[in-house]
Amino acid sequence: MKKKLIAGNWKMNGSLASNEVLLHAVLDGMAQRPPACDVAVAAPAPYLAQVQALTAGSPLAVAAQDVSAHEAGAYTGEVSAAMLKEFSVRYVLVGHSERRQYHHETDALVAIKAQRALAAGITPIVCLGETMQEREAGLTEAVVKRQLAAVIHLNGHCISEIVVAYEPVWAIGTGLTATPEQAQEVHAVLRSQLAAATEHAGRIRLLYGGSMNAANAAALLAQPDIDGGLIGGASLKAPDFLQIIASAK
Ligand code: G3P
Repeated sequence: MKKKLIAGNWKMNGSLASNEVLLHAVLDGMAQRPPACDVAVAAPAPYLAQVQALTAGSPLAVAAQDVSAHEAGAYTGEVSAAMLKEFSVRYVLVGHSERRQYHHETDALVAIKAQRALAAGITPIVCLGETMQEREAGLTEAVVKRQLAAVIHLNGHCISEIVVAYEPVWAIGTGLTATPEQAQEVHAVLRSQLAAATEHAGRIRLLYGGSMNAANAAALLAQPDIDGGLIGGASLKAPDFLQIIASAK
């Protein structure tokens, strides 16, 4: 039975002091009510050592928010998969919409980043999703299939090892969440696309991200093809993040 995954994406938030408070609250809550799901937090790179130290030996996994498409070398400011491994990173986000938007990350680049993560033994969480303009133009399915196809094309031989996060851009940070039905419709498309690439498609966890919170998590997670959540704002508030974790049965 596949365990759901709840991953918090702190984005560019936190400090050594606030991280310690947040992590202790989350870890205490997980100790009091052991999760039925896998749990991870994606911290900004400067804090990976702190998260590694504070979560060592706990069921809370370390995740990163990005990884270089390169193995090593003259790539100022980038962080390689091998470096992430040194901080016990288990998962890494690739292709988050904010990086696609602000850093012009292409489908091909995201596929290479996923390949780099897999080669280092890190599970890539491949982020994809449409804008409101694309949804209103009826392009949602075409967009998400195009984004996923690039990753399948390059990583087909080990595609069953990835995690996919459907994050409708119009729902990220807006409080405008996709309905469970809207999310399930897209997740079913992704599951079908993956089934054409591997017999293990049922094992691949498909996360929903985009204003998932303590109030709506249970209804979203009850959908047959929603295997977890990628949580932004709500992951910065321990009670809310713990409630979402508790909803992931
Ligand atoms: O990566 C998760 C993030 O994009 C969702 O953010 O604040 O809408 O939960 P938020």
